[in-house]
Amino acid sequence: DRTIKIAPSILSADFADFGREIRAIEDQGADWVHVDVMDGHFVPNLTFGPPAVKAFRRHVKTVMDVHLMIAPVDPYIDAFAEAGADILTAHVEAGPHIHRTLQAIRAAGMKAGVALNPGTPAEAVAPLLELTDLVCVMTVNPGFGGQKFLDMTAKVRALREMIGDREIHIEIDGGVDPTTAPLVAAAGADVLVAGSAVFRGGSVSDPAPYGTNIAAI
Ligand code: DX5
Ligand code: ZN
Repeated sequence: DRTIKIAPSILSADFADFGREIRAIEDQGADWVHVDVMDGHFVPNLTFGPPAVKAFRRHVKTVMDVHLMIAPVDPYIDAFAEAGADILTAHVEAGPHIHRTLQAIRAAGMKAGVALNPGTPAEAVAPLLELTDLVCVMTVNPGFGGQKFLDMTAKVRALREMIGDREIHIEIDGGVDPTTAPLVAAAGADVLVAGSAVFRGGSVSDPAPYGTNIAAI
C-alpha cells in the first residue's frame, strides 16, 4: 500500500496530556502515530521508555510506529513488543548486528523498520531488504523536533529503485511540512512523519490549526 500516510510525531505534543493529543490527531485524520524513543546516548535527548509507550497504546487506535533512537536496541525489543508497538524501527548506526536486531523484532511479532541517519547511504540497507518492512530516511540528524529539513530526495529515489516490488514502506522523518512533503512524496516516500508542522510547538486541542496543516501536508 503506497498511498501517502501521515504519521504525526508526538514528540511535539503536550507531554502532560498524551491521551488527549493522540485522540485529537487520530480524530483529525492521522494514519499512524509516530513515537520517538530517545536515550540520551545514541542521541542527545531523552524522551520515554516502554512503560510510557504501553500507556500510549491504550489511546492509539491506528498503527503505533515506534522509532528507537537508542543503543543498544536488542535488550529492549521484547519490552516494546509487550508495550504494543506495531512497527519497531532501529537505526542501522546503533549497533554492529543489525540483522540480529531486525530478526528479533519480527520474532517478537512486530514489523521491523530500519532507520538511516542523513550521513548513511542508501546502500546500507541493500543487504537487509528481506528482513525489513520499513526504511526510515532521516531528513534531520535525530534528537529534536523542529530542525531544518536536509534534502535526501536522491537517497529516497535510490531506495525506491532498490526496493522494487517488495512491500517495504519508505518513511521520511524530520522537517516535513507543506513545502517539503511533496518533494519526498514525488521521490517515492509513502509515510511522512511530521512533528512540529502538526503540533506547531503546542497542543492540538484546538483542531483548526492542526486541520489546516494535515490537509496541507
Ligand atoms: C527527530 C525525530 C522526529 C521528530 C520530527 O529526531 O525522530 O520524529 O519528531 O520532528 P519535526 O517534524 O519537527 O522535524
Ligand atoms: Zn522519529
